Amino acid sequence: MRAQFLLSALPILGAQGARILQANDDGWAELYIRSLNEALNEAGHDVVLSAPADNQSGTGSSDKEPSPRSDACEYDSCAANSGPVGSNSTNTRLNWVNSYPATSTRYGIDTFGPQIWNGEGPELVVTGPNVGTNLFLAVPFSGTIGAAVYASHTAGIPAIAFSGASTGNLAWNTSPVPARSAVYALLATQLTEAVLASGTPYLPSEVFLNVNFPEITDDCNGPANFKWVLSRINPGTFSDPDTESCGSTRLPTETSVIDAGGCHISVSVGDATDKTTAPAEKQAVVLQKLGSLLTCLE
Ligand SMILES: *[C@@H]1O[C@H](CO)[C@@H](O)[C@H](O)[C@H]1NC(C)=O
Ligand SMILES: *[C@@H]1O[C@H](CO)[C@@H](O)[C@H](O)[C@H]1NC(C)=O
Repeated sequence: MRAQFLLSALPILGAQGARILQANDDGWAELYIRSLNEALNEAGHDVVLSAPADNQSGTGSSDKEPSPRSDACEYDSCAANSGPVGSNSTNTRLNWVNSYPATSTRYGIDTFGPQIWNGEGPELVVTGPNVGTNLFLAVPFSGTIGAAVYASHTAGIPAIAFSGASTGNLAWNTSPVPARSAVYALLATQLTEAVLASGTPYLPSEVFLNVNFPEITDDCNGPANFKWVLSRINPGTFSDPDTESCGSTRLPTETSVIDAGGCHISVSVGDATDKTTAPAEKQAVVLQKLGSLLTCLE
């Protein structure tokens, strides 16, 4: 009992429980976001979830007022005709919005979060883990990234977008929870805690992190197997130099990190004004913050 308590208390050393808002584009009842919800709660954070009622994959930064539903939410997770927005009746920290990912984030920041947090907004927004990667050319179309960029660019709240290469949609109440959902949740929590432990401001202004996990395989099946690599979203052929890392001023692309195998996770510093790679001076701040978590691509 005591050993278990100590183990679960370890991850929050150096990072107090934070007000974290979760969103995604696969929908509020997708298992990946619920596994992360559980992991963040277990780590001691004060978490509110606000995500689309249905799968809104590929809707980028679209934002429009939610309209009343006639059908049930995805996986029958809300009843038919239950309005434009709603909450789980026994857990009002879990909310759905009948609109886009960015709209869900807006409602989370302006409405659902402050209802739970005595009028305050989130300190950090985390989106995903998306079912499937969001690399390079997919970035502008991703609702998971659209939700993070809404937070960073429009609301001025630091944001991290997570995506995982292992696919297959799963309902929130899938039992047992497959390894891919559980492992992505633990990895996302690990990075979230590293960002929180680095102190405020958690990220530079107009920046979001775009984090892509590789597939869960026999070799990459537990959090300890993975290595985090600082990357860039688009190839840098015509770009200004990146921050110096691993003896180079050109970071690897996120696609090359994921394709390299070896359980490498890409962490790109995104520019929230245009969803490309952030400038070197902002990359440098993130490099400093994540410090010992990062390794070089071998
Ligand atoms: C969600 O939408 C995307 C894009 O249209 C699709 O690829 C994916 O299979 C959908 N997921 C579900 C659970 O329908
Ligand atoms: C609503 O919350 C209850 C209690 O936490 C849980 O058992 C149930 O699965 C949840 N349903 C949905 C759709 O979130």
